[in-house]
Amino acid sequence: MPYVAIKHAHMMFAIISITLFMLRAWLAIPSPDRIQNKLLKIAPHVIDTILLALGIWLAVLSSQIPFGNSPWLTAKVVGLVVYIIVGTIAIKRGKTHKQRLIATLIAIATFAYIYGAAISKSPFSWLAL
Ligand code: HEM
Repeated sequence: MPYVAIKHAHMMFAIISITLFMLRAWLAIPSPDRIQNKLLKIAPHVIDTILLALGIWLAVLSSQIPFGNSPWLTAKVVGLVVYIIVGTIAIKRGKTHKQRLIATLIAIATFAYIYGAAISKSPFSWLAL
């Protein structure tokens, strides 16, 4: 598959990931029990796994190694870990309405940081554009 097709698929899955996250957070902030739909429970894991797999594929094809020759990719991987941890607080683990709301805002800001790091190719993200 051509590199550019993999890159566009990766970008598309990134947009689907944040869209599904916001939808689930909107349901879960008042009460996590509102997420009853099976598809809404499973699809995000599938989407995020494909997003990550495509990212790793791109990194291999372009010979970039996180924690090695590519600081922006290191920033993305660290950002992804934060996005996942804070995301689970927003949707599941947050004990109060306020905790879930704050975690949702941090997760969205982290996603924006990762996106900026991807397009600027810099850990300074949007500030480097
Ligand atoms: C929430 C997580 C992620 C988001 C939002 C995201 C977003 C993006 C975007 C928007 C691009 C296109 C940048 C451009 O315009 O050139 C991109 C490219 C790329 N991403 Fe991700 N990404 C994420 C996770 C990852 C992960 C975890 C990896 C690697 C393990 C990765 C590796 C790459 C690589 C290697 C490129 C190719 C850059 C290029 O050829 O220009 N991404 N990503």
